[in-house]
Amino acid sequence: MTDEKKIAELISAQKIAERVRELGAQITREYAGRELVLVGVLKGSFLFLADLARAIESTHVRVEFLGVQSYGDETSSSGVVEITFDLKKPIDGKDVIVVEDIVDTGLTMDYIKKNLTTRNPASVKLCALLHKPARQKVKTAIDYLGFTIEDLFVVGYGLDYAQRYRNLPYIGVLG
Ligand code: IMP
Ligand code: MG
Repeated sequence: MTDEKKIAELISAQKIAERVRELGAQITREYAGRELVLVGVLKGSFLFLADLARAIESTHVRVEFLGVQSYGDETSSSGVVEITFDLKKPIDGKDVIVVEDIVDTGLTMDYIKKNLTTRNPASVKLCALLHKPARQKVKTAIDYLGFTIEDLFVVGYGLDYAQRYRNLPYIGVLG
């Protein structure tokens, strides 16, 4: 194929798997005996959500999806967020964890948290695989974080560049 770019591995599949297991164990402990709704933010969180859900030892986990589109160019968001796919069940009175691929400027997550809070859940927490603090514009508490990374555009394990590379089993930097 043409226009092949080189991808340098930043976080290996093995490191991701170890960290996801740790996050799952922590969530298992902290939500023991409670029903939990995992809200995966489409599309970037699909692999992380699939692995995280299996690392949570509980028979009271529900999965919902939220599709958002954030206007901007291919590598950065503007903060204008639109919901393109909404939850299929109400979350009032529920303990919710939003599962996101990456918090970059924080604008998308700020919008999502505010939006979900208006639906009266018992609690809303955030689990993000990656955080790029260098580009943060709005502060959002990340309750469960996989890895902090430098200001690099990353792809793989769900994350895309122009819809490509989501299927890579590791996280890499596009060269
Ligand atoms: P924010 O609103 O700037 O925090 O952007 C969040 C969204 O931008 C993420 O959910 C991703 O979809 C996308 N994004 C931000 N940084 C990257 C990156 O390095 N690679 C791929 N997508 C990214
Ligand atoms: Mg995203």
